[in-house]
Amino acid sequence: MPEAKPQTIYLKNYHEPEYLIETVDLNFILEAEYARVVSRLTITHNPDNKARNAALVLLGEELTLISIALNGVTLTTSQYKLNDESLTIADVPQNTTFTLAIENTINPKANSALEGLFVSNDMLCTQCEAQGFRKITYFLDRPDVMARFTTTLIADKTLYPVLLSNGNKVAQGELIDNRHWVTWEDPFKKPCYLFALVAGQLECIEDHFTTMSGRDITLKIFVEAHDIDKCAHAMQSLKNSMRWDEVTYGREYDLDLYMIVAVGHFNMGAMENKGLNVFNTKFVLARPDTATDMDYEHIEGVIGHEYFHNWTGNRITCRDWFQLSLKEGFTVFRDQEFTADQTSKAVKRIDDVNALRTRQFAEDAGPLAHPIRPEAYIEINNFYTLTVYEKGAEVVRMIRTLLGTENFHKGADLYFQRHDGQAVTCEHFVQAMEDASNKDLSQFRRWYSQAGTPVVKVEQTYDAAKQSLTLTLSQSIPGQKNAAVLHIPVKVALFSEDGTIMDASVVDTVAINNELTLELREQTQDFIFENVPGTPILSILRGFSAPVKLQMSQPLTELAFLLRHDNDSFNRWEAGQKLTASIIFELIDTIKQGKSLSIPEILIDSFKAILEQTSPDLSYLACLLSLPAENYLAEQMPVVDVEAIHHARQFVKRSLAAHLTEQISALYLQNHQQETGELNSAAIGKRRIKNLCLDYLSQLNTDDSHQLAHNQFANAKTMTDQIAALGSIVNSENPEKQACLQQFYQQWQDEALVIDKWFSIQASSTQPDTFTVVQSLLRHSAFDLKNPNRVRSLVGAFSQANPVHYHAKNGQGYQFLADQVIALNSLNPQVASRMVSALTQWRRFDKQRQDLMKQQLERIINTDNISKDVFEIASKSLA
Ligand code: TRP
Ligand code: ZN
Repeated sequence: MPEAKPQTIYLKNYHEPEYLIETVDLNFILEAEYARVVSRLTITHNPDNKARNAALVLLGEELTLISIALNGVTLTTSQYKLNDESLTIADVPQNTTFTLAIENTINPKANSALEGLFVSNDMLCTQCEAQGFRKITYFLDRPDVMARFTTTLIADKTLYPVLLSNGNKVAQGELIDNRHWVTWEDPFKKPCYLFALVAGQLECIEDHFTTMSGRDITLKIFVEAHDIDKCAHAMQSLKNSMRWDEVTYGREYDLDLYMIVAVGHFNMGAMENKGLNVFNTKFVLARPDTATDMDYEHIEGVIGHEYFHNWTGNRITCRDWFQLSLKEGFTVFRDQEFTADQTSKAVKRIDDVNALRTRQFAEDAGPLAHPIRPEAYIEINNFYTLTVYEKGAEVVRMIRTLLGTENFHKGADLYFQRHDGQAVTCEHFVQAMEDASNKDLSQFRRWYSQAGTPVVKVEQTYDAAKQSLTLTLSQSIPGQKNAAVLHIPVKVALFSEDGTIMDASVVDTVAINNELTLELREQTQDFIFENVPGTPILSILRGFSAPVKLQMSQPLTELAFLLRHDNDSFNRWEAGQKLTASIIFELIDTIKQGKSLSIPEILIDSFKAILEQTSPDLSYLACLLSLPAENYLAEQMPVVDVEAIHHARQFVKRSLAAHLTEQISALYLQNHQQETGELNSAAIGKRRIKNLCLDYLSQLNTDDSHQLAHNQFANAKTMTDQIAALGSIVNSENPEKQACLQQFYQQWQDEALVIDKWFSIQASSTQPDTFTVVQSLLRHSAFDLKNPNRVRSLVGAFSQANPVHYHAKNGQGYQFLADQVIALNSLNPQVASRMVSALTQWRRFDKQRQDLMKQQLERIINTDNISKDVFEIASKSLA
């Protein structure tokens, strides 16, 4: 147990700040083990807060206070109170602006939590969201206090030649003792979570962007010298993002300078600090031989995400942390659409829905389920969740669906215009959407406060005489008491047996190209389609128009039909997934009965038909040929049987490979022969389908298939091809396995991000020796518990991407994970807490596994000095 019982913070207890900070003048003298901070604040009483004479409570943690002066007069120790979390001054002026000058010191080198000011390799950098600024100096560390910042950095010129902070560089100079200084001024007021500084030996690439109003913006990306040849894609992505936000949302960049710094030690993906984004190297660095096509896509997506935050997050920020989805949900939605426009809309939607359904649905069905706007938290860092981010984005997407694109953009414009410079709530966002469109969103608002994934049950009755179809939709949310009745957009189309779409209509419902958006608002509601000439085949929830689970019986023949004919690219893929999933579930039953397995003709025929197609979007074709993930299948089982899922799925994969060897080999060769290593979407599509074919073929474990993988590995022109081949080799009985792994390590030992791949490919292997391998990798000289990327690549990959081995019956996987969580707890609570997630789903498993998982959770909770972060996740999952 933690020393004091951790406090829960409630949304309902929100109150306006008693004091506001108008300006902040920060002065840093930077050394790795000793940083001296002087902060000069101008403070006023907040006119919006009725309370008078309240004490001024500044938050501060892990700080050493040196002195404090009010209006120039140094305070004696009796004039303030200091504890581990705050500095309280009882008596401050009420009717005039006053100044506080605070001096304190910190030790960045000792900061392994990577929150506040910390060291990564030899550079100094900050991470302040959500509550890291209080680890730099005493402050009103809350997002509704917005101030103008001026920052002066002083440091050794040799160790820290580059000194960066938010805004514009306004002055610089030299000092004695080989030191220099730089002053930065940010003209926009901002909450302190958007503050950043960076100091180090950094190289940079520079470029320019001309905005829609003709302003010239300087763009700079800073990295360690050895990475300077891996920045070009990030720079191009930044320019694409800037243009996209102008074209799509009419949003222009506001400062004259935009900087990105890549750091090797980072808790998450990246951070949108004003004018000075700090990024995990993983989302900046790319060269064709070191980064995969997926890495390239993710880099562009994250660069876009952080850039888009400048309007959705920075210019308009959150009133309090319960409103996190206001900026994150909207910004994820924006980056999803950006990536869709840059790549393939169909594939991007499939990838996003896949992620949502395998991971967010599990969160929403488990002990940590929460609405996209949570009502309570112990540690806010635990609420940077798939629910707040990904489901939050789906909620914004539904608003667009209900309003139509044009009204949605009117709503966005109104939101930006109304709230620029403010710290607001989700309610303000919905209100703007409502005001601009006149669409009633009162019932829709419930999505913000209702946890859990709705199940929508679908029943259809066709009346041949009337030529009408009645669709009965009903909604419920399993596991949620008194669940709200939600407003759910359900996109539908009807197909005739000849594969054409019907021209049917429903009263009061708009149809666009024969697709209708039904608005389910009741618990049970009938929708009557007129003008339905024959029994239709139903394509429902097209484009995944709402984050719900469908409950509907559809014969395999109808699914096979939709897989051929649906003109909604998402639903066409979905039909194939449902078809394959229901066959896998039948096989799981067969396994449980101990009978021998066989593969149904309908699946082979369907796959054969897809393989024979020529499609301009090969990435999409690859999606059609991919089997549903083990995690997704697990999500649909009442009691997860990891082994049966794995065996049934492998059986399907192997059988398809065996029955369709010729077609798959041909497709492989056709897309491999002229591999040039280019990065355009055609070349990327070729690699995606080719490597899927390789994966199928390697299931055959023949000399030929081993040879094929080995050739690709040895001659790869891109990391996409090299790592795909290595994956196939590691997951088969390829005799070259050890040699390839060793060679890969030799080749890439100086590239941290590639070595991460080397760890995770071994940690996620399905081969029998994996657990032993994982244990020895933990002792490998390149493993480092203090580097979050490395932890995720070994501990994260094993516990989250290797169900068969992680869930080993004897509990060794759980024990391994708990050991790592306990070790990480004292080093980096945020990363430790994320790793606990692999234990939180214990209720989904058989009794024996449940007990083993609970034992480890209890062991974690009973650790000395358990962090709030880990305590909250572990205790809530046991409750
Ligand atoms: N706001 C960041 C984003 O979504 C994420 C973030 C929150 C973060 N807290 C963090 C990143 C801590 C790194 C460390 O873009
Ligand atoms: Zn974000």
